[in-house]
Amino acid sequence: MKKDFQLFAVTTPGLERICAAELRALGFPEVRPEPGGVAFGGALRELYLANLALRTASRVLVRVGGFRCRDFPTLFRKCARLPWGSFTRPGTPLQVRAASHGSRLIHSGRIAETVAVAIGRALGDSAPDPALPQQLVLIRFENDECLLSVDSSGELLHRRGYRTEQLEAPLRETLAAGILMVLGWDGKTPLLDPMAGSGTFPIEAALLATNRAPGKGRRFAFMTWPHYRAGLWEALLKEVSAGERPAAAPIFGSDLDAAALATAVANAGRAGVGDLIHWERKPLAALAPPAPGGLLFANPPYGKRLGSGEDLKPLYRELGALLRGPFAAWGGAFLSPDPALAAATGLPWQVAAELGHGGLQVSLYFRPA
Ligand SMILES: C[S@@+](CC[C@H](N)C(=O)[O-])C[C@H]1O[C@@H](n2cnc3c(N)ncnc32)[C@H](O)[C@@H]1O
Repeated sequence: MKKDFQLFAVTTPGLERICAAELRALGFPEVRPEPGGVAFGGALRELYLANLALRTASRVLVRVGGFRCRDFPTLFRKCARLPWGSFTRPGTPLQVRAASHGSRLIHSGRIAETVAVAIGRALGDSAPDPALPQQLVLIRFENDECLLSVDSSGELLHRRGYRTEQLEAPLRETLAAGILMVLGWDGKTPLLDPMAGSGTFPIEAALLATNRAPGKGRRFAFMTWPHYRAGLWEALLKEVSAGERPAAAPIFGSDLDAAALATAVANAGRAGVGDLIHWERKPLAALAPPAPGGLLFANPPYGKRLGSGEDLKPLYRELGALLRGPFAAWGGAFLSPDPALAAATGLPWQVAAELGHGGLQVSLYFRPA
Protein backbone atom coordinates (compact mmCIF):
# COMPACT_ATOMS: atom_id res chain seq x y z
CA MET A 1 0.00 0.00 0.00
CA LYS A 2 1.42 3.39 -0.86
CA LYS A 3 2.64 5.45 2.03
CA ASP A 4 1.16 8.90 1.52
CA PHE A 5 -2.44 9.74 0.89
CA GLN A 6 -4.43 12.78 0.00
CA LEU A 7 -7.09 12.81 2.70
CA PHE A 8 -10.26 14.80 3.17
CA ALA A 9 -12.19 15.24 6.41
CA VAL A 10 -15.84 15.94 5.53
CA THR A 11 -17.60 18.39 7.88
CA THR A 12 -20.96 20.01 8.34
CA PRO A 13 -20.98 23.42 6.58
CA GLY A 14 -19.59 25.98 9.04
CA LEU A 15 -17.21 23.62 10.85
CA GLU A 16 -14.40 23.51 8.25
CA ARG A 17 -12.20 26.02 10.12
CA ILE A 18 -12.68 24.25 13.43
CA CYS A 19 -11.85 20.86 11.95
CA ALA A 20 -8.71 22.36 10.36
CA ALA A 21 -7.65 23.62 13.80
CA GLU A 22 -8.19 20.11 15.20
CA LEU A 23 -5.97 18.62 12.49
CA ARG A 24 -3.24 21.18 13.16
CA ALA A 25 -3.46 20.45 16.90
CA LEU A 26 -2.88 16.77 16.07
CA GLY A 27 0.36 17.91 14.45
CA PHE A 28 -0.61 17.29 10.83
CA PRO A 29 1.17 19.35 8.18
CA GLU A 30 -0.56 20.50 4.96
CA VAL A 31 -4.04 21.28 6.30
CA ARG A 32 -6.32 23.12 3.84
CA PRO A 33 -9.93 24.03 4.70
CA GLU A 34 -12.29 23.90 1.70
CA PRO A 35 -16.07 24.25 1.47
CA GLY A 36 -17.51 21.09 3.07
CA GLY A 37 -14.34 19.85 4.73
CA VAL A 38 -10.58 19.93 5.11
CA ALA A 39 -7.96 18.51 2.73
CA PHE A 40 -4.83 17.16 4.38
CA GLY A 41 -1.99 14.79 3.66
CA GLY A 42 -0.74 11.82 5.60
CA ALA A 43 0.12 8.16 5.81
CA LEU A 44 -1.77 5.32 7.54
CA ARG A 45 -0.99 6.74 10.97
CA GLU A 46 -2.65 10.06 10.12
CA LEU A 47 -5.60 8.28 8.50
CA TYR A 48 -6.24 6.16 11.59
CA LEU A 49 -5.63 9.04 14.00
CA ALA A 50 -7.99 11.38 12.13
CA ASN A 51 -10.79 8.81 12.46
CA LEU A 52 -9.99 8.16 16.11
CA ALA A 53 -9.48 11.71 17.35
CA LEU A 54 -11.36 14.27 15.22
CA ARG A 55 -14.45 15.54 17.02
CA THR A 56 -15.98 17.58 14.21
CA ALA A 57 -15.47 15.46 11.05
CA SER A 58 -18.37 13.41 9.65
CA ARG A 59 -16.09 11.03 7.74
CA VAL A 60 -12.53 10.78 6.43
CA LEU A 61 -12.03 10.11 2.73
CA VAL A 62 -8.96 8.80 0.93
CA ARG A 63 -8.36 10.01 -2.61
CA VAL A 64 -7.87 6.96 -4.84
CA GLY A 65 -7.22 8.90 -8.03
CA GLY A 66 -8.21 11.75 -10.29
CA PHE A 67 -8.13 12.43 -14.00
CA ARG A 68 -9.66 14.53 -16.73
CA CYS A 69 -12.55 12.75 -18.38
CA ARG A 70 -15.25 13.64 -20.92
CA ASP A 71 -16.64 10.26 -21.96
CA PHE A 72 -17.71 6.96 -20.39
CA PRO A 73 -15.13 4.68 -22.07
CA THR A 74 -12.33 6.88 -20.64
CA LEU A 75 -14.00 6.83 -17.21
CA PHE A 76 -14.15 3.03 -17.28
CA ARG A 77 -10.59 2.56 -18.55
CA LYS A 78 -8.88 5.03 -16.20
CA CYS A 79 -10.96 3.98 -13.22
CA ALA A 80 -10.15 0.27 -13.71
CA ARG A 81 -6.42 1.10 -13.48
CA LEU A 82 -6.61 2.72 -10.03
CA PRO A 83 -5.33 0.79 -6.98
CA TRP A 84 -8.71 -0.39 -5.65
CA GLY A 85 -7.11 -3.53 -4.22
CA SER A 86 -5.53 -1.38 -1.48
CA PHE A 87 -8.96 -0.37 -0.17
CA THR A 88 -11.37 -3.16 -1.00
CA ARG A 89 -11.29 -6.94 -1.04
CA PRO A 90 -12.67 -8.81 -4.06
CA GLY A 91 -16.39 -9.38 -3.53
CA THR A 92 -16.88 -6.32 -1.27
CA PRO A 93 -20.38 -4.91 -1.87
CA LEU A 94 -19.94 -1.35 -3.10
CA GLN A 95 -22.07 1.70 -2.54
CA VAL A 96 -21.04 4.17 -5.23
CA ARG A 97 -22.27 7.78 -5.11
CA ALA A 98 -21.56 10.35 -7.80
CA ALA A 99 -22.04 14.10 -8.14
CA SER A 100 -21.28 16.17 -11.23
CA HIS A 101 -21.02 19.93 -11.81
CA GLY A 102 -20.03 21.81 -14.96
CA SER A 103 -18.97 18.60 -16.72
CA ARG A 104 -19.80 16.77 -19.91
CA LEU A 105 -20.68 13.61 -17.97
CA ILE A 106 -23.66 14.66 -15.89
CA HIS A 107 -25.77 11.54 -15.38
CA SER A 108 -24.72 10.63 -11.83
CA GLY A 109 -26.48 7.23 -11.92
CA ARG A 110 -24.60 6.17 -15.04
CA ILE A 111 -21.28 7.53 -13.68
CA ALA A 112 -21.75 5.48 -10.48
CA GLU A 113 -22.66 2.36 -12.44
CA THR A 114 -19.63 2.69 -14.75
CA VAL A 115 -17.29 3.14 -11.78
CA ALA A 116 -18.82 0.17 -9.93
CA VAL A 117 -18.27 -2.09 -12.95
CA ALA A 118 -14.71 -0.75 -13.42
CA ILE A 119 -13.85 -1.43 -9.77
CA GLY A 120 -15.29 -4.94 -10.09
CA ARG A 121 -13.09 -5.48 -13.14
CA ALA A 122 -10.00 -4.16 -11.30
CA LEU A 123 -10.67 -6.63 -8.48
CA GLY A 124 -11.12 -9.61 -10.78
CA ASP A 125 -14.92 -9.62 -11.19
CA SER A 126 -15.54 -11.75 -8.08
CA ALA A 127 -19.07 -12.58 -6.98
CA PRO A 128 -20.32 -10.20 -4.25
CA ASP A 129 -19.74 -11.58 -0.74
CA PRO A 130 -22.62 -10.36 1.48
CA ALA A 131 -20.57 -11.24 4.59
CA LEU A 132 -18.21 -8.34 3.81
CA PRO A 133 -19.25 -4.86 4.97
CA GLN A 134 -20.25 -2.39 2.29
CA GLN A 135 -17.60 0.06 1.07
CA LEU A 136 -18.64 3.59 0.13
CA VAL A 137 -16.97 5.08 -2.97
CA LEU A 138 -17.52 8.75 -3.84
CA ILE A 139 -17.02 10.32 -7.27
CA ARG A 140 -16.99 14.01 -7.96
CA PHE A 141 -16.93 15.55 -11.41
CA GLU A 142 -16.00 19.24 -11.45
CA ASN A 143 -15.37 20.92 -14.82
CA ASP A 144 -14.54 17.52 -16.40
CA GLU A 145 -12.05 16.63 -13.66
CA CYS A 146 -13.03 13.34 -12.05
CA LEU A 147 -12.02 12.67 -8.42
CA LEU A 148 -12.53 9.26 -6.85
CA SER A 149 -12.38 8.64 -3.11
CA VAL A 150 -13.10 5.83 -0.69
CA ASP A 151 -14.64 6.38 2.73
CA SER A 152 -12.35 5.16 5.52
CA SER A 153 -14.83 5.73 8.35
CA GLY A 154 -17.81 3.46 7.66
CA GLU A 155 -20.59 4.59 9.97
CA LEU A 156 -20.59 8.39 10.16
CA LEU A 157 -18.18 9.68 12.79
CA HIS A 158 -20.90 11.36 14.86
CA ARG A 159 -21.95 7.82 15.76
CA ARG A 160 -19.47 7.52 18.60
CA GLY A 161 -21.28 4.45 19.90
CA TYR A 162 -22.69 5.88 23.12
CA ARG A 163 -26.01 7.23 21.91
CA THR A 164 -28.00 4.06 21.42
CA GLU A 165 -31.12 5.76 22.75
CA GLN A 166 -32.22 9.07 21.41
CA LEU A 167 -35.11 11.48 21.49
CA GLU A 168 -36.55 13.82 18.94
CA ALA A 169 -34.22 16.42 17.36
CA PRO A 170 -30.95 15.44 18.98
CA LEU A 171 -27.85 17.46 18.27
CA ARG A 172 -25.26 15.58 16.22
CA GLU A 173 -22.25 14.76 18.37
CA THR A 174 -19.94 16.37 15.79
CA LEU A 175 -21.99 19.57 15.87
CA ALA A 176 -22.06 19.66 19.69
CA ALA A 177 -18.26 19.30 19.80
CA GLY A 178 -17.89 21.94 17.07
CA ILE A 179 -20.08 24.41 18.98
CA LEU A 180 -17.93 23.99 22.10
CA MET A 181 -14.83 24.72 20.03
CA VAL A 182 -16.41 27.72 18.24
CA LEU A 183 -17.29 29.10 21.67
CA GLY A 184 -13.69 28.56 22.80
CA TRP A 185 -14.74 26.39 25.76
CA ASP A 186 -11.68 24.57 26.99
CA GLY A 187 -13.07 22.63 29.95
CA LYS A 188 -11.70 25.07 32.52
CA THR A 189 -14.98 26.85 33.28
CA PRO A 190 -18.28 25.29 34.45
CA LEU A 191 -20.76 24.41 31.72
CA LEU A 192 -24.54 24.01 31.87
CA ASP A 193 -27.00 22.75 29.27
CA PRO A 194 -30.50 23.48 30.68
CA MET A 195 -32.34 21.66 27.84
CA ALA A 196 -30.03 18.70 27.55
CA GLY A 197 -32.43 16.22 25.86
CA SER A 198 -30.47 13.02 25.25
CA GLY A 199 -27.38 14.65 26.76
CA THR A 200 -25.24 15.09 23.65
CA PHE A 201 -23.85 18.50 24.60
CA PRO A 202 -22.77 17.73 28.20
CA ILE A 203 -21.37 14.35 27.05
CA GLU A 204 -19.29 15.91 24.25
CA ALA A 205 -18.16 18.58 26.72
CA ALA A 206 -16.99 15.88 29.14
CA LEU A 207 -15.11 14.05 26.36
CA LEU A 208 -13.46 17.31 25.29
CA ALA A 209 -12.61 18.43 28.85
CA THR A 210 -10.88 15.12 29.59
CA ASN A 211 -9.24 14.94 26.14
CA ARG A 212 -10.81 11.54 25.42
CA ALA A 213 -10.70 10.53 21.78
CA PRO A 214 -14.29 10.18 20.54
CA GLY A 215 -13.61 7.11 18.36
CA LYS A 216 -12.04 4.82 20.96
CA GLY A 217 -14.97 2.46 21.25
CA ARG A 218 -16.03 1.90 17.66
CA ARG A 219 -15.04 0.23 14.42
CA PHE A 220 -14.10 1.90 11.14
CA ALA A 221 -14.24 0.89 7.47
CA PHE A 222 -10.41 0.92 7.18
CA MET A 223 -10.29 -1.99 9.65
CA THR A 224 -11.71 -4.26 6.93
CA TRP A 225 -9.26 -3.14 4.23
CA PRO A 226 -6.45 -5.40 3.03
CA HIS A 227 -3.16 -4.57 4.85
CA TYR A 228 -5.00 -3.24 7.93
CA ARG A 229 -2.37 -2.67 10.62
CA ALA A 230 -3.99 -3.66 13.91
CA GLY A 231 -0.69 -3.03 15.75
CA LEU A 232 -0.62 0.59 14.59
CA TRP A 233 -4.24 1.05 15.73
CA GLU A 234 -3.47 -0.43 19.17
CA ALA A 235 -0.44 1.86 19.51
CA LEU A 236 -2.58 4.89 18.64
CA LEU A 237 -5.21 3.87 21.20
CA LYS A 238 -2.47 3.76 23.86
CA GLU A 239 -1.06 7.09 22.69
CA VAL A 240 -4.39 8.94 22.88
CA SER A 241 -5.29 7.31 26.21
CA ALA A 242 -1.99 8.56 27.68
CA GLY A 243 -3.08 12.11 26.76
CA GLU A 244 -6.31 11.98 28.79
CA ARG A 245 -6.63 14.33 31.76
CA PRO A 246 -9.03 14.86 34.66
CA ALA A 247 -11.88 17.37 34.20
CA ALA A 248 -10.97 20.81 35.54
CA ALA A 249 -14.52 22.20 36.02
CA PRO A 250 -17.99 20.74 36.63
CA ILE A 251 -20.47 20.03 33.82
CA PHE A 252 -24.23 20.26 34.41
CA GLY A 253 -27.15 18.99 32.35
CA SER A 254 -30.84 19.44 33.09
CA ASP A 255 -34.15 19.01 31.33
CA LEU A 256 -37.82 19.34 32.07
CA ASP A 257 -38.59 15.87 30.81
CA ALA A 258 -37.96 12.79 32.97
CA ALA A 259 -37.61 10.42 30.00
CA ALA A 260 -35.05 12.75 28.37
CA LEU A 261 -33.03 12.88 31.55
CA ALA A 262 -33.04 9.08 31.95
CA THR A 263 -31.79 8.77 28.35
CA ALA A 264 -29.07 11.36 28.95
CA VAL A 265 -27.86 9.54 32.08
CA ALA A 266 -27.74 6.21 30.23
CA ASN A 267 -25.91 7.74 27.25
CA ALA A 268 -23.35 9.41 29.53
CA GLY A 269 -22.72 6.08 31.25
CA ARG A 270 -22.09 4.36 27.92
CA ALA A 271 -19.72 7.20 26.91
CA GLY A 272 -17.73 6.56 30.12
CA VAL A 273 -18.36 10.08 31.46
CA GLY A 274 -21.28 9.32 33.78
CA ASP A 275 -19.35 10.45 36.85
CA LEU A 276 -18.35 13.79 35.27
CA ILE A 277 -21.83 15.25 34.67
CA HIS A 278 -24.30 16.47 37.28
CA TRP A 279 -27.85 15.83 36.06
CA GLU A 280 -31.03 17.43 37.34
CA ARG A 281 -34.66 17.35 36.29
CA LYS A 282 -35.83 20.95 36.33
CA PRO A 283 -37.71 23.44 34.16
CA LEU A 284 -35.59 26.25 32.75
CA ALA A 285 -37.31 28.98 34.74
CA ALA A 286 -36.55 27.26 38.09
CA LEU A 287 -32.78 26.95 37.55
CA ALA A 288 -30.32 28.50 39.96
CA PRO A 289 -26.64 28.94 38.99
CA PRO A 290 -24.65 25.91 40.20
CA ALA A 291 -21.43 27.99 40.18
CA PRO A 292 -20.64 31.72 40.32
CA GLY A 293 -19.77 31.81 36.61
CA GLY A 294 -19.49 29.61 33.53
CA LEU A 295 -21.06 28.99 30.13
CA LEU A 296 -24.76 28.24 29.64
CA PHE A 297 -25.50 26.64 26.29
CA ALA A 298 -29.05 25.75 25.23
CA ASN A 299 -30.48 23.87 22.27
CA PRO A 300 -34.13 24.88 22.71
CA PRO A 301 -36.88 23.47 20.53
CA TYR A 302 -37.62 25.55 17.44
CA GLY A 303 -40.22 25.47 14.69
CA LYS A 304 -39.18 23.75 11.46
CA ARG A 305 -40.00 26.76 9.32
CA LEU A 306 -39.02 30.37 9.85
CA GLY A 307 -41.78 32.24 11.68
CA SER A 308 -43.47 29.01 12.77
CA GLY A 309 -42.18 29.31 16.32
CA GLU A 310 -44.68 31.86 17.70
CA ASP A 311 -45.71 29.50 20.50
CA LEU A 312 -42.03 29.04 21.43
CA LYS A 313 -41.41 32.72 22.14
CA PRO A 314 -42.31 32.44 25.87
CA LEU A 315 -39.56 29.81 26.27
CA TYR A 316 -37.00 32.14 24.66
CA ARG A 317 -38.23 34.95 26.90
CA GLU A 318 -37.53 32.67 29.87
CA LEU A 319 -34.04 32.01 28.57
CA GLY A 320 -33.42 35.76 28.26
CA ALA A 321 -34.75 36.39 31.78
CA LEU A 322 -32.46 33.70 33.17
CA LEU A 323 -29.38 35.24 31.52
CA ARG A 324 -30.33 38.76 32.62
CA GLY A 325 -31.15 37.59 36.15
CA PRO A 326 -29.59 34.72 38.09
CA PHE A 327 -27.11 33.81 35.34
CA ALA A 328 -26.00 37.40 34.59
CA ALA A 329 -22.39 36.53 35.40
CA TRP A 330 -22.42 33.59 32.94
CA GLY A 331 -21.68 33.53 29.24
CA GLY A 332 -24.69 32.40 27.21
CA ALA A 333 -25.18 30.67 23.88
CA PHE A 334 -27.96 28.94 21.99
CA LEU A 335 -28.74 27.51 18.60
CA SER A 336 -31.69 28.72 16.53
CA PRO A 337 -32.66 29.05 12.86
CA ASP A 338 -35.01 31.93 13.60
CA PRO A 339 -33.82 35.50 14.39
CA ALA A 340 -37.32 36.28 15.73
CA LEU A 341 -36.80 33.67 18.47
CA ALA A 342 -33.37 35.14 19.29
CA ALA A 343 -35.01 38.59 19.50
CA ALA A 344 -37.63 37.18 21.91
CA THR A 345 -34.88 36.70 24.52
CA GLY A 346 -34.70 40.51 24.73
CA LEU A 347 -30.89 40.41 24.79
CA PRO A 348 -28.28 41.46 22.23
CA TRP A 349 -26.35 38.54 20.69
CA GLN A 350 -23.37 38.00 18.43
CA VAL A 351 -23.71 35.30 15.78
CA ALA A 352 -20.63 33.15 16.45
CA ALA A 353 -21.26 30.74 13.53
CA GLU A 354 -23.76 29.68 10.88
CA LEU A 355 -24.06 25.91 10.93
CA GLY A 356 -25.90 23.17 9.06
CA HIS A 357 -28.18 21.14 11.35
CA GLY A 358 -30.84 18.66 10.27
CA GLY A 359 -31.13 20.22 6.79
CA LEU A 360 -31.54 23.72 8.24
CA GLN A 361 -29.14 26.63 8.48
CA VAL A 362 -28.94 27.52 12.17
CA SER A 363 -27.18 30.39 13.89
CA LEU A 364 -25.09 29.99 17.00
CA TYR A 365 -25.96 33.00 19.17
CA PHE A 366 -23.41 33.99 21.80
CA ARG A 367 -22.87 36.60 24.47
CA PRO A 368 -19.70 36.47 26.54
CA ALA A 369 -19.81 36.64 30.35
C1 LIG B 1 -34.12 20.21 20.83
S1 LIG B 1 -34.24 19.30 22.32
C2 LIG B 1 -32.56 19.21 22.88
C3 LIG B 1 -31.82 18.08 22.21
C4 LIG B 1 -30.46 17.82 22.81
N1 LIG B 1 -29.52 18.89 22.53
C5 LIG B 1 -29.96 16.46 22.32
O1 LIG B 1 -28.88 16.41 21.70
O2 LIG B 1 -30.64 15.47 22.54
C6 LIG B 1 -34.98 20.44 23.42
C7 LIG B 1 -35.13 19.94 24.86
O3 LIG B 1 -35.64 21.01 25.63
C8 LIG B 1 -36.45 20.46 26.67
N2 LIG B 1 -37.34 21.54 27.18
C9 LIG B 1 -38.37 22.15 26.55
N3 LIG B 1 -38.90 23.11 27.35
C10 LIG B 1 -38.17 23.12 28.49
C11 LIG B 1 -38.22 23.90 29.69
N4 LIG B 1 -39.13 24.86 29.86
N5 LIG B 1 -37.32 23.64 30.66
C12 LIG B 1 -36.38 22.66 30.50
N6 LIG B 1 -36.30 21.89 29.39
C13 LIG B 1 -37.18 22.12 28.39
C14 LIG B 1 -37.17 19.31 26.00
O4 LIG B 1 -37.60 18.36 26.97
C15 LIG B 1 -36.09 18.78 25.05
O5 LIG B 1 -35.40 17.69 25.63
